[in-house]
Amino acid sequence: MNELLPQNQIDEFRARAAALTHPHEVIVDALRAVQSHHGWVPDAGVDLVAELLGVLPVEVEEVATFYDKIFRRPVGKRVIHVCDSICCWAGGGEAIAAHLQEALDIGFAQTTADGIFTLLPTCCLGACGEAPAMMVGLTTHGRLTPERIAAILQQEREALTESKDFHHQDTKTPKEP
Ligand code: FES
Repeated sequence: MNELLPQNQIDEFRARAAALTHPHEVIVDALRAVQSHHGWVPDAGVDLVAELLGVLPVEVEEVATFYDKIFRRPVGKRVIHVCDSICCWAGGGEAIAAHLQEALDIGFAQTTADGIFTLLPTCCLGACGEAPAMMVGLTTHGRLTPERIAAILQQEREALTESKDFHHQDTKTPKEP
């Protein structure tokens, strides 16, 4: 089995690309699949996607670097994206970001010592009405307070422990940490 993508998905992406006039439209899906399986997208993942879809590696790289939820460097099991756009900023987002850094004992673009959380800033998550907001893995959380953050982090840790899921988050949405 390819360490970047299971054989059945390799076959699936080849078939999908072969059926399309513009296989470029599958690039994001293929990158997400590699990331879901491998945790992040190394250079070999970019090359694999390009080969499967019959596109140029540079075209895959362009997509990978455009989407801030495709990770081109190793990340923790759960990536926390903290919104730093206007509504969240006005709603106390700076204090929330500072609290998260303190609670996790890391700065932005860093991963906790246990390898669970990576902290990244992001632009608007579409939850402006519930500012300040963050996204953990695929789940958006709003109306953040230090208490809510503590509960969310605890919940994520427990979920990983219970499922023994030390595989990476499923990053089905699309910058580099
Ligand atoms: S400004 Fe933060 S979710 Fe929109």
